Amino acid sequence: MVEVPLEIYRKSPQDAAPHYDRFQIEVEEHTPVLTVLLKVRDEIDPTLSLRYSCRQAICGSCAMRINGKSRLACRTPVGPEVRLRGRIRIDPMGNQPVLRDLVVDQKPFWDRYYAVKPYLIPDPAHPLPEGRESPMSPEQVEQFRETPRCISCASCYSACPAIASDPSFLGPMALAKLYRFAVDPRDGGYTQRLQAVQNQGLWLCLRCNLCVEACPKDVRPAERIVDLKWMANQELGAREPGSRHAIRFASNLTEGGLLNERRLAVDTLGLGGSLRQLPKAIAMMRKGRSLRRHPPIQGLNEVQAIYQALDRPEDLAHRERQKGADVKGPRPPLPPKATTQSAPPPSKGGSP
Ligand code: SF4
Ligand code: SF4
Ligand code: FES
Repeated sequence: MVEVPLEIYRKSPQDAAPHYDRFQIEVEEHTPVLTVLLKVRDEIDPTLSLRYSCRQAICGSCAMRINGKSRLACRTPVGPEVRLRGRIRIDPMGNQPVLRDLVVDQKPFWDRYYAVKPYLIPDPAHPLPEGRESPMSPEQVEQFRETPRCISCASCYSACPAIASDPSFLGPMALAKLYRFAVDPRDGGYTQRLQAVQNQGLWLCLRCNLCVEACPKDVRPAERIVDLKWMANQELGAREPGSRHAIRFASNLTEGGLLNERRLAVDTLGLGGSLRQLPKAIAMMRKGRSLRRHPPIQGLNEVQAIYQALDRPEDLAHRERQKGADVKGPRPPLPPKATTQSAPPPSKGGSP
């Protein structure tokens, strides 16, 4: 058994400001945080508000911040949390307004989900067969990677600092969902989807990987965002400042081993845009930052070797399959036409 000191975020519409309520509960080490919260609600304070349903990490309802990390309460045991922090602090999910206690208004999360059109866009050149299924090969299904595992729990959304800093960012779950439909061979909206996402802050992702850490189903949204960036560059060209910055950043380092910041600014923002950054550049130089072009560093070949090693063959192969017109491979074969003829009866005496 373990004594669990709990600090639970409380806020009701009548409260001027939120506060934490403290409780002490004795339970087995492996007890999930959700069970402890329900014990508080059933035995101590029936006004505690929270969301849950399946209690088996399936429905995605019980996401909250536990000791600062976005997780499912039904699959987070109390023992390791108490050992690590000496207490368990529970907060509602981030990036969504709190309605009451641990219940948030998920409208911002679902608005972003619907914004990516999470359904097949018909392809007039390849209409889906009516009244029949449209099967895919195992290789085509493999292109979805881990995205079908998503249970829409919003843990990744809650953890994402890019949403906190720019509300126009679609967020990890919506982008992973968009990836799932973009690579679907039955979908007709590949270019349209990538164009839309280029303009909705695809490049605002900070690549901090907090969404990967938060996801209870190992969907790895940050990796699918990298794929979307790659696909957008292949399909539309480096038209965004973000995509130009990423490409020039890598080529700066592989060409000379150091950033050539003057060149990087011009390549990313154009001449006009970089002139507008002049006050910032002067301020940087006053603080001792050199914006001059550096000669190639010693050991440049080692930097180049690191870049080559990071472009792992399996990653490249995965992305290569998604280039331009061949992105989705051949259309899935249509199933054979249904026949109304009944099968002939087996011959008497059986068959070998
Ligand atoms: S990697 Fe990108 S999407 Fe994921 S949490 Fe960080 S900023 Fe958000
Ligand atoms: S990607 Fe993972 S963390 Fe995000 S909503 Fe889906 S299951 Fe939850
Ligand atoms: S209660 Fe369903 S995922 Fe936790």
